Amino acid sequence: MNKIFKINKKISSFKKIINVEGDKSLSIRWVLISSLSKKKSTAFNLLESEDVMSAIRCIKKLGSKVKFSKDKCEIVGNGLNFNNEKKLVLDAGNSGTLGRLILGILINSKNKIKLIGDKSLSKRDFSRVTIPLKKFGANFNASKNLPLEMRGVNNPRPINYLEKKGSAQCKTTIMFAALKSKGVTTIKAKKSRDHTELMFKHLNIPIKVKKTDKKFDQIKVCGVKKINPLNYRIPGDISSCAFFIVLTLLSKNSQLLIRNININPTRVGIIKILKMMGGSIKFLNKRSYKGEKISDIFIKSSKNLKAVNCPTKYNSSAIDEFLVIFLVAARSKGISQFRELSELNQKESPRLKWASKILNLMGIKNIMTKSSIKIFGNPNLNLEKKITIKNFSKDHRIFMMSVIAALTFGGKWRISDLDSIKTSFPKFLKILKKIEHKT
Ligand code: S3P
Repeated sequence: MNKIFKINKKISSFKKIINVEGDKSLSIRWVLISSLSKKKSTAFNLLESEDVMSAIRCIKKLGSKVKFSKDKCEIVGNGLNFNNEKKLVLDAGNSGTLGRLILGILINSKNKIKLIGDKSLSKRDFSRVTIPLKKFGANFNASKNLPLEMRGVNNPRPINYLEKKGSAQCKTTIMFAALKSKGVTTIKAKKSRDHTELMFKHLNIPIKVKKTDKKFDQIKVCGVKKINPLNYRIPGDISSCAFFIVLTLLSKNSQLLIRNININPTRVGIIKILKMMGGSIKFLNKRSYKGEKISDIFIKSSKNLKAVNCPTKYNSSAIDEFLVIFLVAARSKGISQFRELSELNQKESPRLKWASKILNLMGIKNIMTKSSIKIFGNPNLNLEKKITIKNFSKDHRIFMMSVIAALTFGGKWRISDLDSIKTSFPKFLKILKKIEHKT
């Protein structure tokens, strides 16, 4: 259903403490890896969003048993080998991460598997994973878009693979397929989120990671005969925090403490960029958990924000957060520049195009190319006009970016597809209410 969300005024100042829901990347990885172990894996604080539930439905179809109770989820998987006698149809819903990663796991499926997804996912490029998976020996009926049909291979051959986009989805898909191959798969990958590497290390899966230079890592994964169960307490998602970090920075006399967030160095590009722009953000109570870094994050309203010439080395570690970073650029003094971001147009919607469109509607001058955007900041912008945001392919992050823009720049906003938040951050509006609530 297309529910419309209306906002007519800016948020008042606030001082609050919040938690956000579990990290989406970790949640999907935990579900898929647990499905490969024959023993029981348990997770606490698993993100219960539509993307993660699609993952659960897929592994159930593949034979895993799943049990939920309160904030606990248990999975008993069916091991590394498939017994799928009949052709299966798996639905990845809206999730690019699930759709791509699961193809890695299916590398040795005996029977045909059809992978389908929603309208937005069906437009996304799957050739970036089907091409290397063919090298392992898999067969596909079509290669670029969903729906696609895959037939796995009995003895996948290990491969050498060069991943140049900085895509953790591509890297992880190959790492999953490598687990089921005899021998060593070698990946040279442009740096991207390394949750899979850390989980593999924690599970004692033979993996070696070497930094080849500033931009690339070399990852060697050896095929295994079995996978141990993975018990995990999933920390909060920095990509969900991002909306409230920016809300706080751009609101007057406000502060926010967000508890228990994954601050893996491959995910904190947003913090680095916003600090360069003059944002007051601190990590408190830093700790480690199964190779991941976790912290509380303290944010204060920040005046005198300044434009940034954003170093491209942060692109991968901030890839899901640029939409809200652009809002900070809109408020900053000077002209901000963001380059080499063509990957942003490969997401749930073409996000670079959408960001430019929303900034235009707000009256923020910007110049966009296929891979870059220049934003002419206006620290004094105070909107009063009507703004309607619709037809954005139900992209959850476009919805949430628009809500934050409305609450910080003013104006009368009508934002469609409220239900889109269910894919990554179902409690977004509930937490926002808590922040807005006068205490
Ligand atoms: C993800 C990787 C990123 C990110 C996505 C989640 C992951 O995609 O945008 O939301 O969990 O591996 P790419 O790897 O395609 O950049």
